[in-house]
Amino acid sequence: MTRQAPHGAFPEISHDEMARQDFVLRLREYVAGDIVGGNDTVYKHAVEPAFERAEGRKPATRKEARQAMERHPYHQAWGSLNRATQEMIWDSVQGSLDRQDDALNQRVKNVGKSNGSLRLNPAVKAPRYLTAVDIHCMPGNYHTESTEDDAYQGALLDRGAFIYARGQRGPNHDSFGHDLLAYLEKTRPGFKPKCILDMGSGAGQVTCAFAEAFPDAEVHAIDVAAPLLRYGHKRAASLGYDVHFSQQNAEATDFEDESFDLIFSCIMMHETSSKALRNYVKETRRLLAPGGMALHMDFPHNHDKTPYVQAMVDWSTHNNAEPFIGTLGDTDLAEVAVQSGFSHNTAVVIPMSTVTPNNRMYVLDARKPA
Ligand SMILES: C[S@@+](CC[C@H](N)C(=O)[O-])C[C@H]1O[C@@H](n2cnc3c(N)ncnc32)[C@H](O)[C@@H]1O
Repeated sequence: MTRQAPHGAFPEISHDEMARQDFVLRLREYVAGDIVGGNDTVYKHAVEPAFERAEGRKPATRKEARQAMERHPYHQAWGSLNRATQEMIWDSVQGSLDRQDDALNQRVKNVGKSNGSLRLNPAVKAPRYLTAVDIHCMPGNYHTESTEDDAYQGALLDRGAFIYARGQRGPNHDSFGHDLLAYLEKTRPGFKPKCILDMGSGAGQVTCAFAEAFPDAEVHAIDVAAPLLRYGHKRAASLGYDVHFSQQNAEATDFEDESFDLIFSCIMMHETSSKALRNYVKETRRLLAPGGMALHMDFPHNHDKTPYVQAMVDWSTHNNAEPFIGTLGDTDLAEVAVQSGFSHNTAVVIPMSTVTPNNRMYVLDARKPA
């Protein structure tokens, strides 16, 4: 089992707390590995044939496939387990964080300085699409803070997301960053960006992968959630990365036009409303310097998937408080980029599997001519 690499802001986890968190991780592995596969069998041999007998055709949309699956006891059992283990992730981490109370925030605050920075702006409020539900069942979502210097949600996300991903994003939880870097190396070898922006950085693990890959670049990370930024800033500092974190909405930032030659985001788009998505692709274009490129990576992409595969992704829309997953999958991101001012021949959506073993992700690659 991959162990999460500690850092200066990492919460204290006792032996028993670790045992409980490991148990949840293993259970998630079991549900997401052995158990989930049974859905394929059930769909192929029971659900689809039953639908065909009743309707004289196969399910044509993800909604039809989902609704047909929802009636099958195997899918119901898997769904209950999946949801229950999702809630267990946050419970197991909160049990440990609650015990530490103020000591956790103090611990984060005490991490030494770096040449990076933290700029918080209380006027930046988390938009409704990030507050209306507790996204992926994380209690308090990204933005909640109850004391000054509150970094609790940062620690909850850092540890919880690691368990959620079952350690598959690596000890530093940054493998998606390495996927993006591999994409960059393959499609634009030798490119050395001078100024980089991570939109929706969360706790900044992926940001740090870029800071490491481009040590001479000025690296910025923005997010709307102050607790994540406080935590991410100190996490990065403790690991020796100089990242400039600021509390900003990616739809409208305070950076000057053409400030960055590389802008990226990692699994942010599926948590963003359709309107906001369009705003932040427009903002990307405004912020890109001539010759710059944007890489926005996420996973829902329905265009080359069967209704059944789409329905399995869409399970999270209906059962895991991820309201925009289905919609993002239907969205033609290259077209969004074109509507935002990029040209047809410089905005493409590419499967990451063309570059790395990551066969779930897609990247919107949008460039601004020099
Ligand atoms: C799933 S997390 C991904 C975090 C990080 N990029 C990663 O890969 O681990 C999505 C992040 O996007 C942020 N986010 C969503 N919409 C945003 C917006 N309009 N402006 C800034 N941040 C946003 C959320 O607060 C959250 O931290």
